[in-house]
Amino acid sequence: MRRAKITVIGAGNVGATTAHWCAGAELGDVVLLDIPQTEDMPRGKALDLRQSGPIMGFDSEIQGTNDYNATAGSDVVVITAGIPRKPGMSRDDLLSTNAQIVGSVAEQISRTSPEAVIIVVSNPLDAMAQRALQVSGFPSERVVGQAGVLDTARYRTFLAMELGVSVEDVSALLLGGHGDTMVPMPSCTSVGGIPVSRLMDSARLEAIVDRTRKGGAEIVGLLKTGSAYYAPAAAVTQMVEAIVRDKKRLIPCAAYCDKEYGVGGYYVGVPVILGSGGVEKIVELELDEQEAADFDKSVQAVRDLVESMNKLTASS
Ligand code: NAI
Ligand code: 2OP
Repeated sequence: MRRAKITVIGAGNVGATTAHWCAGAELGDVVLLDIPQTEDMPRGKALDLRQSGPIMGFDSEIQGTNDYNATAGSDVVVITAGIPRKPGMSRDDLLSTNAQIVGSVAEQISRTSPEAVIIVVSNPLDAMAQRALQVSGFPSERVVGQAGVLDTARYRTFLAMELGVSVEDVSALLLGGHGDTMVPMPSCTSVGGIPVSRLMDSARLEAIVDRTRKGGAEIVGLLKTGSAYYAPAAAVTQMVEAIVRDKKRLIPCAAYCDKEYGVGGYYVGVPVILGSGGVEKIVELELDEQEAADFDKSVQAVRDLVESMNKLTASS
């Protein structure tokens, strides 16, 4: 049986950790690519990772490269290329540099892996997904962004910590952009099947939502030299698995919404069914008044960012 080919662009913290977990779970063979200026670094990380196979018990092939030809014919391409934020920076401060990087990466992918599903990770996420769509020319279902799985995992972790229960029993959903305007959905949050509102009061829940919104900044503040990568890479790996194993996972992802939720042609976090075709369905939920107002605010923030990006890329 042919093994899936998974390319990870950017062999930095998120990229290398994603390669690690995709290989460890034997989701396919992995190609790890970085820019020529990094010279042998991706080859070094790939060889090191491959040598963990006999100990960890996996047979995936892992190749490091600076050459897009090695990525040809990939089933999934994960874009982690770009700069991460440092303390004091917002994700939006990365817009200009990363729009240029993601644009150049998407151009190469469309040439070498025209049938791939692209998972965008680089920030600011929703705008970078839009950039990858614009430049690759791929159908929108084959360009998806990772944000919701991570944000929801943070939310589930904090809820489990607060209630002293297993994270496995916490089920939750967050919508909206990957940023301070993400939209919690208490009506879709339960613990062991019990609605969260029956287990804690709204003030405690609001404090957890606030910590989740600032979850990325909390890690940046602790690390000081970059941003989170273990949980982000785990989130990407879940998405890669959904695609290469055609699992039809119903998970929150940044998907291109046009008529859906009345978004009008932007990427925003919504529940989707993710399978071998990429975003196979966007699941539309009826939002209550507060959720709809929060969602609109989040979409407006994405819209503003994409407009700034379009001006920057048009003038460069
Ligand atoms: P990093 O600095 O550790 O790695 C980035 C890598 O990209 C570097 O090795 C760099 O050489 C490479 N790179 C730069 N330009 C490139 C190009 N044109 N082609 C190929 N590779 C290129 O950064 P880290 O921590 O891995 O983060 C990567 C990106 O992912 C950042 O933009 C960060 O903000 C974003 N991120 C997004 C998350 C999300 O939930 N969507 C979560 C965590 C990070
Ligand atoms: C995070 O949320 C940096 O977007 C990344 O950790």
